[in-house]
Amino acid sequence: MEIPSKPNVARGQPPTDTLVEPLLSIRNLSVAYRSSKGKGGYYKALRNISLDIRPGESVGLLGESGAGKSTVASAIMSLVEPPDKIMGEIIYNGKDVLKLTDKQLRHYRWNEAAMIFQAAMNSLDPVVTVGKSFEELLLDKQLARGRNHARELAKKLLHEMELPETICDMFPLELSGGMKQRVIIAMALATSPKILLLDEPTTALDAVTQFAVLSTLKKLKQSGKLQNLILITHDPSVHAFMVDRLIVMLKGVIVEDGPIEEVMTRPKHPYSQLLLGTLPLSPKRGSISEKLVDDSCPFTRYCPYVMQKCRDRMPKMYSVGEGQEAACYLYGGA
Ligand SMILES: Nc1ncnc2c1ncn2[C@@H]1O[C@H](COP(=O)(O)OP(=O)(O)O)[C@@H](O)[C@H]1O
Ligand SMILES: [Mg+2]
Repeated sequence: MEIPSKPNVARGQPPTDTLVEPLLSIRNLSVAYRSSKGKGGYYKALRNISLDIRPGESVGLLGESGAGKSTVASAIMSLVEPPDKIMGEIIYNGKDVLKLTDKQLRHYRWNEAAMIFQAAMNSLDPVVTVGKSFEELLLDKQLARGRNHARELAKKLLHEMELPETICDMFPLELSGGMKQRVIIAMALATSPKILLLDEPTTALDAVTQFAVLSTLKKLKQSGKLQNLILITHDPSVHAFMVDRLIVMLKGVIVEDGPIEEVMTRPKHPYSQLLLGTLPLSPKRGSISEKLVDDSCPFTRYCPYVMQKCRDRMPKMYSVGEGQEAACYLYGGA
């Protein structure tokens, strides 16, 4: 994988270069869900993806519903369990996350990587106050020495998410969607995780509230309180606002990976071009109906540039610019 050599100073990021060890390294990851219909059938949600996350990076996963974005996040949190199948490695601190003991996993899940699930803001306990929810969490994680200490810490965390401390005495029902989402993020920050995974964190919010919440997160990132973000959303404008690097996914594979400005303005993979509105329309689109092998490029059916080899075998990632790669035979594999 090619790595950008240009320090990303403008965005306040640490310089990335080839010598920097990845923080998280995903190697040949495949996930197959046990399908509900039929006996013993599996649905391949991820097909052999590899990806390095470098220290200090904010990475975005873009792709339409069903692309496998949430599955990547679940895998990073080691939440894929039998009867579903997971293969490959996710290396963090020299260890495979998928092979951690229960005790190691408990530590990893909160202190190293924390995830905010899709629609998490609806999961706040409706019958307890925000302060009480914080107290339970902080005592359970042994971050607070007692109730007063927990209250102090809660206020500090709420303050970081730009919420007034009076929220502590309120019930979830009394909060707006944006406030609830801020509370959820504040809770995830309690353990100062190195990696924060956010799965469609603002999709349910109106546009103004959405960008207000994202602005707070961005400030935390810029001040160094948040080290690494992995942001999942199907909304390119949210990525453009938040991340340094964008990964485009389609039906369980990564089709493009590169610096956000490049991928947004000059997407190289035909599917990225379709998503970002730069794909030329072609009469060939949709005209191919032959059966595809399991290993085909998933865009074959709709791609105006489709070639026979696209149907035979998924291309590897080819370099298409500085730090930018696309899985497409237009760029290599002659
Ligand atoms: N627990 C599950 N059981 C069965 N299929 C699942 C499960 N979770 C996700 N899938 C399927 O796997 C594919 C990828 O899902 P997901 O990772 O949620 O995609 P995304 O987040 O990009 O919308 C989808 O086709 C989805 O229906
Ligand atoms: Mg999802």
